[in-house]
Amino acid sequence: MRDHAFVQLSDLHIRAEDGPHRSIDPAEALRGTVHGVYELGVEPEFFVVSGDLCDRGDHAGYLRLRELAVELFGVPVLLALGNHDGRQAFRDVFLDDPMAVQAEPYFYAQEFDGVRIAVLDSKVRGEVGPRQLDWLRQTLQQPAAVGTIVVVHHPPFLNAVRHMDDRVLRDAGALAAVVRAAPVLGLLHGHTHIASMAAWAGTISVTAPGVAHLRTSVTAAGLGFVEGSGFNLCVVRGGRLTVQPVVLPGTQSLPSWLDGPREGTAAART
Ligand SMILES: [Fe+2]
Ligand SMILES: [Fe+2]
Repeated sequence: MRDHAFVQLSDLHIRAEDGPHRSIDPAEALRGTVHGVYELGVEPEFFVVSGDLCDRGDHAGYLRLRELAVELFGVPVLLALGNHDGRQAFRDVFLDDPMAVQAEPYFYAQEFDGVRIAVLDSKVRGEVGPRQLDWLRQTLQQPAAVGTIVVVHHPPFLNAVRHMDDRVLRDAGALAAVVRAAPVLGLLHGHTHIASMAAWAGTISVTAPGVAHLRTSVTAAGLGFVEGSGFNLCVVRGGRLTVQPVVLPGTQSLPSWLDGPREGTAAART
């Protein structure tokens, strides 16, 4: 059984117009991240992007993303939708499917030489809903030669600090029941813009650092908005999934706090 390597990107937040937004240029961040992957010698079979593809979920943003994808990716790219995305605009730009119901959730599975990626859509209310869970249950009943990895934007596990609690997948319990009933190599998420992981439903559950920006949340002091980008290097070896979060060298400066004081929290900012 050969090794498989792929890269998870998350939270691109591409906008129609390039240039800085709150001191960060998402298109430049995506370009730097993909270049960073290859400069580190990683040769992914494919990329997975776990949602918040575009900041406003509009047609113009997806058109810009499509241009960037053609420029940057020489291997297949699997796209998932997050809370910032727009189902209709995404479908109009990326999918050639005139029969598709535009507001329907976008979920599917794709296999790469025995590694199956099952992509779910948590765009609306941060939940996947019964229909996607039924589909996932049925999909997992069909064995994949190496195994299945589930991608969904909202993480199902509580993060280390309480002010991230509202970012959890709302129907995490129902997803856990499906995942526990079938072998799953792991789950990959975004949304928090912070690399974190937990043992969950009998497997591993991992969030990726954001591409557009990172966040810092090392204490209960608050949620910081940090310049910088990263990705998850995912490798399947010997039937197991290993996820290595990589934060690329950069300024890592802290332009703002999103929710907080921040008096007396200097230590938390280091
Ligand atoms: Fe995001
Ligand atoms: Fe998000």
